[in-house]
Amino acid sequence: MEKRRMIIDTAMVILLPFLMAYSLIGETNHEILGIAMGVLFITHHIFNYRWYKNLFHGRYTFIRILGTIINLLLTAAIVLQMISGILVSKHIFTFLSIPGTASISRMVHLLCAYWSFMLMSAHLGLHVRSMSARVGIHKRPGLFRALSVLFILISGYGIYAFIRRQIAEYLFMKTAFAFFDYSEPVIFFLADYLAVMILTATVFYYISSFASRTAKNSRKKPLKPRLIIILVLLAAAAVLFVTMGMPYIRRHFIPVKIDRSQAAAMAAIDFGDRKILTVQFTRVGNSAFDDDVAAVSSASLMKDGSTLVGNAELLAEMIRNAAGGDLYAITTEKKYPSSYKDTCGEALKELNSGEESVLLGDLPDTSVYDTVFLVYPIWWGTVPKPVESFLKQTDLSKAVIYTVVTHGGSREGSCIRDMKPMTSGTVSDNYLTVYDDDADTARDQIAAWLKTCASADAK
Ligand SMILES: Cc1cc2nc3c(=O)[nH]c(=O)nc-3n(C[C@H](O)[C@H](O)[C@H](O)COP(=O)(O)O)c2cc1C
Repeated sequence: MEKRRMIIDTAMVILLPFLMAYSLIGETNHEILGIAMGVLFITHHIFNYRWYKNLFHGRYTFIRILGTIINLLLTAAIVLQMISGILVSKHIFTFLSIPGTASISRMVHLLCAYWSFMLMSAHLGLHVRSMSARVGIHKRPGLFRALSVLFILISGYGIYAFIRRQIAEYLFMKTAFAFFDYSEPVIFFLADYLAVMILTATVFYYISSFASRTAKNSRKKPLKPRLIIILVLLAAAAVLFVTMGMPYIRRHFIPVKIDRSQAAAMAAIDFGDRKILTVQFTRVGNSAFDDDVAAVSSASLMKDGSTLVGNAELLAEMIRNAAGGDLYAITTEKKYPSSYKDTCGEALKELNSGEESVLLGDLPDTSVYDTVFLVYPIWWGTVPKPVESFLKQTDLSKAVIYTVVTHGGSREGSCIRDMKPMTSGTVSDNYLTVYDDDADTARDQIAAWLKTCASADAK
């Protein structure tokens, strides 16, 4: 039994970083590994069912309280992750998908994935002492010391990896879309996540060691376990609401107020005699917004007085104000829904169907331009269908295309790579990404980038 428990636990630890790699290992593989993790998770619970039986019995020390909270949160996160995983499945559980739940399930899945990852690592850290006792490492002080030094060194790198991979942003929902660098070897990704796991486990290992040492010296009467669990869960819920709920509400339900002319005011940048066209596509000009859009869902929208302004729209205005030339807005015959969530669903349908978008109005004669700035939001990791249609229907053979991708966390995804076969123009690798929350304050970022475009040769 002991041995089987060890095998299950080790398999879960090995699987975890692979699962975090999501599309880097292939979406189907991700789903298969997700199922394997689900099976291991259930088996782990069957083997450890006594933990639930004893939940309301015995003395609650600090370390038991901490362990209980971590376990309960981890169980909740994994259960939510499994349910949302089934709902967003694109390969194995497609028959179980429920219309209208895709975007919320994706968000829950991403959020729970990061919390499960951190909580599972913490859970591991709290059990390192008992696990090392089981395999007898504590009886070999030399080996124990060598491993401690190794884990502390890896933890040092783990701090760097935690920052570099922006893990806090996922945990606190600053970003709703996962970013993957497809040009990076998967092994680097796995190594970074393993280092973060080791960092978290090491921190919790030392917390448990320290607490058990101090507990031996303490004679305090323990509080009633039920009361402690309730109080601490309430405190955890309050912290989660303040750290995650509030920023989410602020970002997704209240449009940011701007003064459009001030936000887009730019000093001129010299592009010589280049023929410049700035093209933008935004959700704002292409959605049938309800009057109370702020209450429905206004993720990343800005408002100048009573006028809604899209991120791409404002960024394109900044570019035109600095670089001069003409400005063109891509508009679609179809209007996207008012709700952000429904727009995500609609956009996904378009991508899956592969149908071209019907664009409104006459397209500009793009053949006369040698420099095109194309500004658009990333949709589902790639180029929105209307932008793709614009690129396919216009002659940009004389132009270098400088792209600005605005995003909610995943940066350019595969936009630049995907654009290249869609157009006769030359897609420059000198592109810019602007985080949606930063659109109204992106003037300096845009100016610095435009200068690099101005110094490059025209086609
Ligand atoms: C349908 C849809 C899909 C999106 N997909 C992504 C995505 O894959 N990655 C990401 O980081 N942000 C994504 N976003 C967020 C937008 O790219 C981001 O909020 C952008 O700044 C919106 O620009 P806009 O106001 O000009 O439309 C998506 C938004 C929508 C509406």
